[in-house]
Amino acid sequence: MSENRGNFSGRIGFILAAAGSAVGLGNIWKFPYLAGQNGGAVFLVVYLVCVFLLCYPVMVGEIAIGRAANSDAYGSYKKLGGKGWGALGIFGILAGIFILSFYNVVAGWAFGYFLKISFGDLLAQGEFGSFFGAFVNDLSNIDSAGKLFNSNLMYSFCFMMLTAIIVSQGIQKGIEAANKIMMPALYVILIGLIIYSLTLPNAMSGVKFYLVPDFGELRIQTVFDGLKQAFFSLSLGMGCLITYGSYLKKSDNITRSAAVISIADTSVAFLAGLMVFPLVHFLQYKLGVANVGTQGPPLIFIVLPQIFSEMGPVLGRIVGGSFFLLVCFAALTSTISLLEVPVAYFVDSRKMNRTKMVWILAGVIFILGLPSMMSQGMIELLNKLPFYPLIGEQKGDFLSFVADMCDISLVVGGCLMSIFISRRWKIKNMHDEIEISDKGYSTSFLKKYLTFTISYIAPVLLGVLSILVILEKFFGLANLI
Ligand code: TRP
Repeated sequence: MSENRGNFSGRIGFILAAAGSAVGLGNIWKFPYLAGQNGGAVFLVVYLVCVFLLCYPVMVGEIAIGRAANSDAYGSYKKLGGKGWGALGIFGILAGIFILSFYNVVAGWAFGYFLKISFGDLLAQGEFGSFFGAFVNDLSNIDSAGKLFNSNLMYSFCFMMLTAIIVSQGIQKGIEAANKIMMPALYVILIGLIIYSLTLPNAMSGVKFYLVPDFGELRIQTVFDGLKQAFFSLSLGMGCLITYGSYLKKSDNITRSAAVISIADTSVAFLAGLMVFPLVHFLQYKLGVANVGTQGPPLIFIVLPQIFSEMGPVLGRIVGGSFFLLVCFAALTSTISLLEVPVAYFVDSRKMNRTKMVWILAGVIFILGLPSMMSQGMIELLNKLPFYPLIGEQKGDFLSFVADMCDISLVVGGCLMSIFISRRWKIKNMHDEIEISDKGYSTSFLKKYLTFTISYIAPVLLGVLSILVILEKFFGLANLI
């Protein structure tokens, strides 16, 4: 491929961008609520096993494919495996498009909360549950100009614009530069918030829930949730890291970069939990109620604002505003990576103009997100899909449906990728690619570990789990065992 595809300036640029992709709503929004629903510390243990046993090898494999082929997700599979395997790349690119479509909606909520807490009077609301319900539904009254500007449609739209502006600037000037500012800022805000939350009354009860595992809580659902979350959080299984890996220089070490990215992402998820649970337990103590933390997706949008409002108007604005700014930074570094995947496809494999494709794709994906946006109460049919899940009275909404389908396709994608490496491209070629920038690799234990996990553990375990996850989603777990 020609030189003008773009490159990261070096290993640090690549690591920051890939870690920026990984660290996102998955860490700060999803991880704490999943941990809250799945017994706290047990979930953490399951998650860590998934990351190191399955995800790390898949990550190394993805980056190696991208760097070896020096092309987008489709082009890379096609180049190394033939046209048929290119289909796997297309599958990933489509998954990325759908992830971005709903991800941008949730990012829009966070952006709206940031504005409304910092500059508006959100914290003066008495009832945060009903406020959130009305807020996510806030598309229905877009007739007056003032209202339009305050709607989710606008917040999401702005978020997609920001994403497109950054991606249109290219790899070094856009993606790398944005990550170099936002990633350090994110860590600083996160650490500040943790220190604050640990000083609150009853904080230690939250820490205990989060860190002391009770294995009696371990259920098969916990394993499914942990695995899907690990793939989502590390941005694996759909060619995002193939794309970023293709911009990595031959002199940069792949296995070490992947280790830093995995640790950075896992540490942010861990730290987000360490920030959220003391806050949640502080609130439980203050209100004298239990189980505040188990309520699922609205956790950071309902429970946290309630806590910020308890802090009083000034402090609440500062702490709450910083928190949602943190969420926006994390989300933005992820949305740019999601947009880059289809953009790279059209630029590399279809020889289209980069800037033009950035804007077209951003527009199309924004429109694809509209049903998700309107599925939170505005349109009844989308709010309770008649076909999903097939079993169970509680019908799901369109946004959760798309999110679930994407989660599943990441695990399936990771499984097929490991089959691709071990049965088609051949593991030796992956090792050769890694060795270019790592002389000690050929005799290392890591090489044996990766051979074993990519050839056997990943295809088998991910294959079985993919099937179980699909069965569980559509037919319900109770009917399975
Ligand atoms: N990992 C990001 C998060 O945790 C989301 C994300 C960005 C992603 N790029 C991806 C998920 C590619 C899957 C695949 O929020």
